[in-house]
Amino acid sequence: MAHTYEKSRELFARAERCVAGGVNSGIRKLEKPVPLYFERGRGCRLWDADGNESIDFQNGQGALLFGHAPEGLAEAIGAQARLGTHWAAQSQLEIEVAERLQAMIPCAELTRFNNSATEAVNSVFRLVRAHTGRPMILKFEGHYHGWGDEGLVGFGATEDRWGSEENPSNAHPSQGIIPEVPGHFAVVQWNDPEHLRRRVKEFAGRIAAIVFEPVLCNTCCIEPVEGMLKTIRELCDEHGIVMIADETITGFRFGPAGAQGYFGVDADIMIYGKAVGGGVPFAGFSGRRRFFEKILNGQVVHAGTLNSNPLCLAASKWCLDKILHCGNSHPSELNRIGCSMMEGLRLLADRHGIPLRPQGPGLVFHTVMLKAGAAEGPVLNHRDYVRRHDATRFAHLRQCLLEEGVRAIERGLWFVGFEHREADIQEALQRVDVAFSRHAEASH
Ligand SMILES: Cc1ncc(COP(=O)(O)O)c(C=O)c1O
Repeated sequence: MAHTYEKSRELFARAERCVAGGVNSGIRKLEKPVPLYFERGRGCRLWDADGNESIDFQNGQGALLFGHAPEGLAEAIGAQARLGTHWAAQSQLEIEVAERLQAMIPCAELTRFNNSATEAVNSVFRLVRAHTGRPMILKFEGHYHGWGDEGLVGFGATEDRWGSEENPSNAHPSQGIIPEVPGHFAVVQWNDPEHLRRRVKEFAGRIAAIVFEPVLCNTCCIEPVEGMLKTIRELCDEHGIVMIADETITGFRFGPAGAQGYFGVDADIMIYGKAVGGGVPFAGFSGRRRFFEKILNGQVVHAGTLNSNPLCLAASKWCLDKILHCGNSHPSELNRIGCSMMEGLRLLADRHGIPLRPQGPGLVFHTVMLKAGAAEGPVLNHRDYVRRHDATRFAHLRQCLLEEGVRAIERGLWFVGFEHREADIQEALQRVDVAFSRHAEASH
């Protein structure tokens, strides 16, 4: 029986009378037929207010490597809560977490914590500008670095505002920002090393940092082409530019050293969030000691009432220990789970005649719904994605999936976690089969 959502509809109507727009993060409104209200989760499964059970591939937008309510995490947080929830001061826990990061991430000589990756991005942009004395940040089209004025430049603009292929615009998707902000960004297309070289030359001497998602997960799921990350490293070394890997999604998911370890490249500063806290508001940045000089001497302000909050630190220590405990099996085990789901989706899509093309490394992947007549082959960058992905058709498929008890991210991204066992994947694929036949029927 397909899920129905009377109770969620009721709660959403009630929320709209007190919570602006009924949700507390804009993208949650995308959930169709109605933003869902959840009551509990366990492992890879979630139960909503109507009692519907779903196999979850949204996984807290990628934060939950170990699933919902994993054994031990509540105990770690609870034990800390009994000692105190907030000291706005130091604790041994913050050293223990920073030391674990040092052991995992090659560039992590020093670390600072925040409560969200958006804050960590703001902190790092400020730091690199002060460090280099240069005003600009170079970023890639379609890469997302949080919802602050700076992090959103060059993300999510409508096609009429893209600018040319050679000179992508620094368009901003939000009103109300400080008008000068976009002017301090150079935007470059992803996965074109020669184009990147030309753009760096064009802004020579003015670029403080190059920031990137090592695997572009916020627009489709696009791995770097051969030589892409190496070119970023070379250009940073050549021009005295700081290399910032925004590993908010890839960090810890792609192995203890994140995507840097996975692809064999070392950034100067790494930003992380999501999996480092396992679902609590925790994020931070780590890097080579020399880049922290302006924080060390007090010339750059970095602050926050709730920074290194002990509840979040207790959760993070628990998560990092679990990751360390996985040893060499991480990320290969998670990859295997993800690839098994991707393969199942591919086979079922073919069987139902749906032009759905899973792409990504398995640890996270996207299901591209090809527009009629669109070319086959991997999507390579933001423009390619918008031109080939049929977002309207995918939204219908996603609703069918949800109603059959399989929950992916609204725009088509899927996160696996260690709690997705082979039996869960097989059960999810049986549900997908039903969802695909409903979608295929409605599409004819
Ligand atoms: C790559 C990247 N950077 C930054 C952020 C912002 O993280 P937060 O939502 O914790 O502020 C996100 C969030 O999805 C992200 O994916």
